[in-house]
Amino acid sequence: METIAIPDLYIRQPYESYTAEHHETWRRLYSRMLPRWERYANERFRTGIQSLCLPTDRIPRLEDVNRFLSPLTGFQARAVAGYVPAFVFFDCLRNREFPTTVTIRNGKTLDYLPQPDIFHDIAGHVPMHTDPHFAETLVRFGECAHTAAALVSAIRDSAERVRTLTSIFRAMARFFWFTIEFGLMRSPDGVRVYGSGLLSSFGEIEHAVASPDVQRYPLEIEWAINQGFEIDHYQPLLFIVDSFDHLYSLVDELERWMKAGKLNHVAPGEPEVNEVDLQSFLEAGGGL
Ligand SMILES: [Fe+2]
Repeated sequence: METIAIPDLYIRQPYESYTAEHHETWRRLYSRMLPRWERYANERFRTGIQSLCLPTDRIPRLEDVNRFLSPLTGFQARAVAGYVPAFVFFDCLRNREFPTTVTIRNGKTLDYLPQPDIFHDIAGHVPMHTDPHFAETLVRFGECAHTAAALVSAIRDSAERVRTLTSIFRAMARFFWFTIEFGLMRSPDGVRVYGSGLLSSFGEIEHAVASPDVQRYPLEIEWAINQGFEIDHYQPLLFIVDSFDHLYSLVDELERWMKAGKLNHVAPGEPEVNEVDLQSFLEAGGGL
């Protein structure tokens, strides 16, 4: 299948539009996260932060980030103006491009983050993209999206096609959420965080590792794909993988399950699957 070319998907990072207050917000976010990363983040994330030479006192320029990132894994952070439909997002990962939000949260509400911002995307996600195993895992997610689009495009009945796609996409979204966004990994020092939603949250990174209110279980595909999640409070349930090789093998297995039809009837519930995301898969499949 061809790569989907979306005109104007990527924009130029409007660096000159950042105000002193925006840079100050980055500085405050970064400085308060540092000790928490040292304590709770996966070792590969801590190495990644160093490899990228992220500035501590101002919002990074994406071109500077990419100068360090690209030689390591081929990944690049690319600025986008807003929401990227799901298939397009996964397809970008397959091409080792990471759609990156360039706005920053309001400095008055550092903790409240309904949508991704540049701190979540660059400080939370991109350091993980310096690790070759993790980078391959993201590419694998992109390939899974292509597999999903191809599988459902072969379903003749349009209502059945949409119903099946909704289930497969819900399974993929849950799996992505419980790994790339909120994943935990074993380490010799105990459980550590590799999920970007946790790595960019001052409160939740500690809660995820240390709170007795969180249930932490070894990741099992059948559980994760049937488990709903809500985005407006700390996660009460998190899943642990053994290693990045293990994570990669689980994405492989997810694709095998998809091909075997085992994602076609996952439990209803969160997340809601929106029309734009479904459409992006259907259009991609139509191009087969
Ligand atoms: Fe994210």
